[in-house]
Amino acid sequence: MFFGDEYVCKASVADDPVGTIDGVPKTNNNKITVFLFAALMLSCQVHAVEVESPDGRIVVDVSLDTDGKPYYSVRYGDETVIAPSRLGIRFQHHAGLEGPMREIATARRTSDSVWEQPWGERRYVRDYYNELLVRFASADGPARHFNIRIRLHDDGVGLRYEVPEQDYYGELDIVDELTEFRVSQDATAYWIPGRGWNRYEYPYRTTPLDEIALAHTPATLRLASGTHLSLHEAALVDYAAYTLDQRRPGVFQTNLAPRSDGVRVKTRTPFATPWRTIQISPDAVGLLNSSLVLNLNEPNALGDVSWVEPGKYVGIWWAMHLSRKTWGSGPEHGATTANTKRHIDFAARHGFDGVLVEGWNTGWDGDWFNNGSIFSFTDAYDDFDLRAVTDYAREKNVRLIGHHETSGHISNYEAQMAAAYDLYESLGVRQIKTGYVADGGQMQRVDETGVTHFEWHDSQIAVNHFERVLKEAAKRKISINTHEPVKATGLRRTYPNWISREGARGQEYNAGWSQPNPTEHNVMLVYTRLLGGPMDFTPGIFDLLHHGPDSEFRVQSTLMHQLALYVVLYSPVQMAADLPENYGRYPDAFQFIVDVPTDWEESIAIAGEVGDYVVFARKERSGDDWYLGAITDEESRVLRIPLSFLDAGQDYTATIYRDGDAAHWKDDPYDYVIEDQTLGRKQSLELRLAAGGGTAIRFRPAKKAAE
Ligand code: NOJ
Ligand code: CA
Repeated sequence: MFFGDEYVCKASVADDPVGTIDGVPKTNNNKITVFLFAALMLSCQVHAVEVESPDGRIVVDVSLDTDGKPYYSVRYGDETVIAPSRLGIRFQHHAGLEGPMREIATARRTSDSVWEQPWGERRYVRDYYNELLVRFASADGPARHFNIRIRLHDDGVGLRYEVPEQDYYGELDIVDELTEFRVSQDATAYWIPGRGWNRYEYPYRTTPLDEIALAHTPATLRLASGTHLSLHEAALVDYAAYTLDQRRPGVFQTNLAPRSDGVRVKTRTPFATPWRTIQISPDAVGLLNSSLVLNLNEPNALGDVSWVEPGKYVGIWWAMHLSRKTWGSGPEHGATTANTKRHIDFAARHGFDGVLVEGWNTGWDGDWFNNGSIFSFTDAYDDFDLRAVTDYAREKNVRLIGHHETSGHISNYEAQMAAAYDLYESLGVRQIKTGYVADGGQMQRVDETGVTHFEWHDSQIAVNHFERVLKEAAKRKISINTHEPVKATGLRRTYPNWISREGARGQEYNAGWSQPNPTEHNVMLVYTRLLGGPMDFTPGIFDLLHHGPDSEFRVQSTLMHQLALYVVLYSPVQMAADLPENYGRYPDAFQFIVDVPTDWEESIAIAGEVGDYVVFARKERSGDDWYLGAITDEESRVLRIPLSFLDAGQDYTATIYRDGDAAHWKDDPYDYVIEDQTLGRKQSLELRLAAGGGTAIRFRPAKKAAE
């Protein structure tokens, strides 16, 4: 509901007027509501209003300058983290939502609730915030009005625009969003460039703040004061993603990805923008323990989602990246019935849930990268019997994981989507990995007149395509794992069948067709990309020197680092990415991959610094075991970690998978030690991580271990 004009300048109104806009579901159907309080105050001609986080540390100030332009600023304790920054939206054919504005009405609300994730890095999420709604009305030109809604959690700020239905506005073409982030201190920035040909798949850069050109979010900043910020967005629906555009030194504007017609967003009133988010933490790990982005998304819209199944999978995949098999037909075709059965046998033997098969459908022959229009999503190659392999998998209690590479041709995919999902549903396939391999700005969309348009992966066109995919798939109880997606903004809360995605340089870059990921890359992912949500990185490469010991094309990690990734890089679906035969070479290390779960009761980032190292502890769901994962960059490290996360009154048998004394990603990646220790929460543990190394630990309650 919006504030209608009749409320402006009145003293009070009824309960809970700060709902959300028409057409956007309200957020109050949480499973457990601990405390909910609604109150409203209205005032006239207030030109600066403040709201603070529940713990009082973060304060946001909203004001009009002397020209009537709206601004906000953010303080954190004693420091200004965002200096007064502009707000506003411009349209192609209408007067914009910028100054001069007048009349500010405000409403306040506090909400404290706990909601449950169907799957996730933690089961229960607390959503505790103070909210301020500010209403602006135009001071000249056509009469128009809009709201800024701000939510302050203890871990950061969410801010969005709501534009109600009103006489002046109907259909609208957004050409610019004026939201700024004026970073008022020197800072080190961790970021990847936006609007490039390789989408989100760049090594992360560590630079002074003023070297950011156009950066994707989440972008992480370490301010001179030591405070850490992550700038991002939540609930990206029917809108364009933004990149951070440094217009003047330290002044970043939301630069919305354009549609092919140049307009940024086509919309109509009433509408709301995604939340612009600023996570704030005194240290690096605080960013990792924040649920701000999830909390700002709408609750599950799909009802019963017990059919969404976290789990581990293997696949016919890495062999193609190593150029030992082909996606297309021919003597080296990977997706044959026999090869798939071999993988199903391996999966069944080791308790994996799924087998991914890429290259099963026609359309891969020739230049598949540029031939998205010829993919069929229902016709299999002659040497692949889809029904036979799904039947075989079912007998072995394994599921086939479907695969749809679209090469970014969204029209070809949408035309076949219903039939393709019907087919998979009829065969009991519950999960599909999709792919959008096409350069940035080259996704193809064919309009009603047959004209092809070229679109960005983070444009409104793409955002809406991905949402259509989720809805169609959900009708058939199918989950989607998107490669070459738009960035993650927490929509897994609303659509729990969006089970994972890529959206950064994954393990595939280590296969030899590119410069490998730098040694620090995986640590960097944790503090940047993963702040948006789960990533299908595909860990677990055991043949680290697959092009020979002297080749630069190799994985820049130790074997133990590969194990630790299952704990460190959260995803509810995790691949054991290597060729099955390579796991036989290190069966004792492989045991960790067999044991590690992918669905968690609780997750705690314990220690770390951006781009340097990180230590995570996670407790499995429906079980008592804890797991720990620690990884480092190119530096070796010794860390002393308190085990206070373990349950009280319980000793654990810790099976520790660690780098050996001689281990080094380059010189000796296979030097490792596996040992058991009895440990409890009052103790601490020294972790010795080699250069490019890691530690993975399974803690089992000691009683259970003795059985
Ligand atoms: C890119 C994906 O990231 C990769 O996993 C997949 O194998 C290829 N596209 C082919 O679909
Ligand atoms: Ca990719």
